[in-house]
Amino acid sequence: MTEPKHRSAEWFAREGKYGFIPRSWMKSQGFSPDMLDGRPVIGICNTWSELTSCNRHLRDLAEHVRRGVLMAGGFPLEFPVTSMGEPLMRPTTMMFRNLVAMDVEETIRANPIDGVVLLAGCDKTTPALLMGAASCDVPTILVSGGPMLNGRFRGADLGSGTDVFRLDEDYRTGKLSKADLDDAEAAMSRSAGSCMTMGTASTMAAIAEAMGIALPMNGSIPAPDSRRSVLAEQSGQRIVELVNAGTTISQILTRQAFENAVKVTGAIGGSTNAVVHLLALAGRLGVDFTLEDWDHLGRDVPCLVDLKPAGRFLMEEFFHAGGLPVVMRRIADRLNLDAPTVGGMTIGAVIADAICYDDEVIRRLDRALTPEGGIMVLTGNLAPNGAIIKPSAASPRLMQHRGKAVVFKDAADLHARIDDPDLEVDADSVLVLQNAGPVGYPGMPEVGSMALPKKLLKLGVTDMVRVSDARMSGTAFGTVVLHVAPESAIGGPLALVRTGDIVVLDCEARRLDLDVDAAELDRRRAALVLPEPAYDRGYGKLFIDHVTQADKGADFDFLAGKSGTPPSKVSF
Ligand code: FES
Repeated sequence: MTEPKHRSAEWFAREGKYGFIPRSWMKSQGFSPDMLDGRPVIGICNTWSELTSCNRHLRDLAEHVRRGVLMAGGFPLEFPVTSMGEPLMRPTTMMFRNLVAMDVEETIRANPIDGVVLLAGCDKTTPALLMGAASCDVPTILVSGGPMLNGRFRGADLGSGTDVFRLDEDYRTGKLSKADLDDAEAAMSRSAGSCMTMGTASTMAAIAEAMGIALPMNGSIPAPDSRRSVLAEQSGQRIVELVNAGTTISQILTRQAFENAVKVTGAIGGSTNAVVHLLALAGRLGVDFTLEDWDHLGRDVPCLVDLKPAGRFLMEEFFHAGGLPVVMRRIADRLNLDAPTVGGMTIGAVIADAICYDDEVIRRLDRALTPEGGIMVLTGNLAPNGAIIKPSAASPRLMQHRGKAVVFKDAADLHARIDDPDLEVDADSVLVLQNAGPVGYPGMPEVGSMALPKKLLKLGVTDMVRVSDARMSGTAFGTVVLHVAPESAIGGPLALVRTGDIVVLDCEARRLDLDVDAAELDRRRAALVLPEPAYDRGYGKLFIDHVTQADKGADFDFLAGKSGTPPSKVSF
């Protein structure tokens, strides 16, 4: 047996029963003594699940990671963690992101794992796995499952999520028959992989690449493409080298990496969900990174990627156009080019020779899709601790707007009344949704892009100002103000809004205000009755009791920071 040098040696290199037991039971799986000779143990952390269709191919991808680990002299051990699939999980996957992060963290720390390859895909699986690994601060590489192939329906592309909203509106207004809707349903999701729009999954995979915690092209190679298997194999090789070099996740995910991530999110027109996920991840790593950073770092970054929901194309075209390295090269003068990556090169070296093969898909700076791609952060008497809006998804004419509030007290109220013919609402109204935040729903679901009233859709209205403490799907669009903090369920000013109040949205001044005098707001606050908590036991209660507000990332208060992987007691 070679000299112990890895954490796993605390299990496998010990004398007597303390070594006998872990070695003997591992040998029961058919591993030879050579596998236990002191080589680094690489955990392959897998979110495969048939309940998460976007991640259904990750056991196949794990085999390619395994081969890479073996090629480099490591000992690969695959392990499952809880998975989260957007289409099935209720009340919302966001309620379980922190649970999965705990699963990842505690599994790594409790086991003889020296480095980890994270296999993720569907939206929350990426931040959850990164957050868990960050709190262990082990060498880490993320491998995304990749986007699914483009949907095709009657000669045109169908984009995941984005076109669901349009098809649903067409069906609700009688422009599309039930049979057509069924055909579209079958045509949209036709391969393994995550949503192929620039939704949250694509955004988080691209951000991981931009932050250097995944290999180049991680964000765009389609799920079924053999080159994704190659990337997985290469990641397996690299993680062994990272372990041998002692390069941990906190050495890659520095403040520089977060700054690059914000700018890249703007340039790709990325999902608003990236805001809460990166705030939570930074909190784990102790990186000084705030909600305000999203605005001032991303303020003047143009959106260059012409992908749905903001633009025309889908992830297959993005990949063939050259992917994220092209985008980053085009905004290179704004990036921290000496930021390190898990591949061993700096970000600057990674993107230096990137070539664009389609300027329609990845626009040149002088033909940007929108001049302001970044996330805007709003404050005001309606959102003292902040709210966000995605300008590339909004209607420019509505970004300066005064309108009468139409208030829904929760998501059930919204669903019950939005299509009521008697609802007093017009195109200038502001739809306000309360009690859909981290505590209120709970779990801050993606209901912020409220469907427009059917009677206005029939009149040709395509967008309205909407305000809530909820999130929005990365595939959605509209002039939608999200993540209002503090949220209404804990007594934030959003809870005080009444139908007929004037809401003022002023994106240029970064303001969101309620035009009601302070004395009246004080009266309403004094009379406010907070909703009963949705859970009085179990994980739901833990969540409500400990989730932080959106401006802090909606992590659990007790999970901030990292504890590494200190030696644990042996229990036998
Ligand atoms: Fe899984 Fe969109 S539903 S990535």
